[in-house]
Amino acid sequence: MIVCICNALREDDVRRAARDGASCPTTAYKTLGRKPRCGQCFSFAREIITAERATA
Ligand code: FES
Repeated sequence: MIVCICNALREDDVRRAARDGASCPTTAYKTLGRKPRCGQCFSFAREIITAERATA
């Protein structure tokens, strides 16, 4: 599933960034070499990051 349309980031990408230590969407996108743009994906990305970090 695509999480961030602006950056074409998939859920798997965001989960990987969270496992690599990213604790927020901005850091996760930076880890993936991207930058936040419109911000519409943030709440969904945050949920994914929180869930991934909870299971780590
Ligand atoms: S959808 Fe992610 S920054 Fe726009």
